[in-house]
Amino acid sequence: MKNIVIAIDGTSASGKSTNAKLVARALGFVYVDTGAMYRTLAWYCLQKKVDPHDAKAVAAACRKWKTKLECVEKDGLRAVHLLVDGYYPEREIRTAATSAAVPHVAAVPKVREWMVRQQRECEPFGNLVMEGRDIGTNVFPETDFKFYLDASLAERSARRAADGVQENLAARDERDSQRAVAPLMVPLGARVINNSNMTSEQTSGLILKEIRERLGR
Ligand code: DC
Repeated sequence: MKNIVIAIDGTSASGKSTNAKLVARALGFVYVDTGAMYRTLAWYCLQKKVDPHDAKAVAAACRKWKTKLECVEKDGLRAVHLLVDGYYPEREIRTAATSAAVPHVAAVPKVREWMVRQQRECEPFGNLVMEGRDIGTNVFPETDFKFYLDASLAERSARRAADGVQENLAARDERDSQRAVAPLMVPLGARVINNSNMTSEQTSGLILKEIRERLGR
């Protein structure tokens, strides 16, 4: 591993995306949203009428789809996008239908193998802030920079509702934590931050303080 990788894992709606972006911007690192990659496959399956519960069919779709990783700069943030047939389905992957399908897709072992390979291939883009569920445990277990975000279920549900999304977070977390391959868990050596009563500035501030101290920047 040549570049620095900051792994930010945690539960749904624990502020991973907001904080990972704030940290990436502040340090000039490349932001990688691995959840978006799983969502892209879930969206693709729905498009192609592949049943997300049919693990074999999902694995076959993942073997065959034509994708490309691209590093894009927008509003001062460099981010990696996964394109399918040259298209980045930015809005489509946030629908309720995609959210419901994604934990099933993410539980397929062949899908996880494919995703982990792609996520490791992001490293040559530069120093990374990568958010997900298994970054510190599985994708870059060798990194020294691991954070795990969490907040109370009530607070996380309120955050999703404020974004206009009604979702059973407890059910999704349960599926993500109970799956056989790479379940959601606190990575060894990760700093756990429960941000139920914290703003994103406070949360990202804690992460940045620790990184800067350790990097001597
Ligand atoms: O962070 P998110 O809600 O966009 O993630 C979408 C889904 O993908 C979520 O159900 C968990 C799964 N996921 C995963 O299994 N591993 C990752 N590294 C990232 C997301």
